[in-house]
Amino acid sequence: MASLPSAVHGAQTGEFRLVAAPARLPIVGKPHPDTDVWCYEGRVPGPEIRVRQGEPVRIIIENSLEQETTVHWHGIRLPIAMDGVPGLTQPPIMPDGSFTYEFTPPDAGTFWYHPHANSLQQLGRGMAGALIVEEPEAVPVDRDICWLLADWRLTSSAQVASGFGNAMEAAMSGRVGNTVTLNGAVTDDVPVRAGERIRLRLINGALARIMALRFEGHRPVAVAIDGQPCDPHEPEGGRLLLGPAMRIDVMLDLQGKPGRRYRVIDDFYDGLSYWLTQLAYDERPAIRTHPLDAPLSLPRNPVPEPDLATAERHVLRLQGGMMGGGAMMGMGGMQGMDHDASWAINGHSMTGDGHAGMAPHLTLQRGRSYVLTMRNETAWWHPMHLHGHSFRVVNRNGSSVPYRQWADTVLLPPKETADVAFVADNPGDWMLHCHVTDHQVSGMMTILRVA
Ligand code: C2O
Ligand code: CU
Repeated sequence: MASLPSAVHGAQTGEFRLVAAPARLPIVGKPHPDTDVWCYEGRVPGPEIRVRQGEPVRIIIENSLEQETTVHWHGIRLPIAMDGVPGLTQPPIMPDGSFTYEFTPPDAGTFWYHPHANSLQQLGRGMAGALIVEEPEAVPVDRDICWLLADWRLTSSAQVASGFGNAMEAAMSGRVGNTVTLNGAVTDDVPVRAGERIRLRLINGALARIMALRFEGHRPVAVAIDGQPCDPHEPEGGRLLLGPAMRIDVMLDLQGKPGRRYRVIDDFYDGLSYWLTQLAYDERPAIRTHPLDAPLSLPRNPVPEPDLATAERHVLRLQGGMMGGGAMMGMGGMQGMDHDASWAINGHSMTGDGHAGMAPHLTLQRGRSYVLTMRNETAWWHPMHLHGHSFRVVNRNGSSVPYRQWADTVLLPPKETADVAFVADNPGDWMLHCHVTDHQVSGMMTILRVA
């Protein structure tokens, strides 16, 4: 059984303090040894931070690691100076140093935090946590819970395997691990009670693993994507597709039988399906016989609506990586290439986690609407994340996308295209990168400047 991380006490004052440091924790569970991790407040995942929409938050990060770090508040529309990109938006937090992040989250929803320095190792060794922004009025559910899913590559003695940043892997799927944890532990059962409605906030906090979750015997209804409410809908084939960094909030009506167990299955990779956990019903009778009679839809956030008719349009071509046959694709003759680069956007590769002097690829005018066409010309999947904004996914491969889907990370299958639209309303130099960490650090990254 996983120990659920409890919320940091700070919801009253909006002030939190997180120490980043190594620790040793039971990730796999007995009889396996504990795992050496890097984490916040001695826990994996880091404390679940719960704050309220529109109220100021102050989070002090103290760095007790032996290397620099920063924290990125993934998906929050905040001022550029609080975005946590080393060199670009702030100096890195040195060992024994600290940094105070202050912002007022404009949107309610499910967000998360993670380092943006040496991301492969810092995220891959356990540094991540949920950041939940609550609606001013509570949404009627019986329970509101969060599953932060993480993927580890562990040795037989349950230690994090070395080999981060392997070039071959970086040019393919990235570092997909061998152990998936739910809130920091391998979790066989999640206790539930018949009849209850759970708001389940799913966060894919993996370095590279894409997940497709199915709930045996249940029909989860997606109500928010990347924190932003969508029209409530059952996902196609009952499969919740989550690329790295993506979140989906579902409403889950527990209409199964008392005493039974139902598997939650991840079958994203062909032939590598496994069960993540089981919904374990206790023996008590259902608390109600029909699903809770309350609306499923969440109140909308104040995200500006892009004007598609007047929007300025740009194409971002995602390039590089291995082809099916093992040859590098289309990287010959690209500008700005260095030896670590396996990927590019429109012919340019930016590598690493962020540094000073990264030149913007596009300059956007504040207040204008934009449509970015992201065209995946590669043979691999890419969850593309834009900092500082939420965008509306309007088209995929030329067909319009239903259910008003907003996101901050859009998952692009091989050879597919998505159009995303947004108002450039937040000034600064914002990163746009693939959230498969190996892809980001080996070239699939660029900067959009909002002037
Ligand atoms: Cu969660 Cu630069 O990203
Ligand atoms: Cu990618």
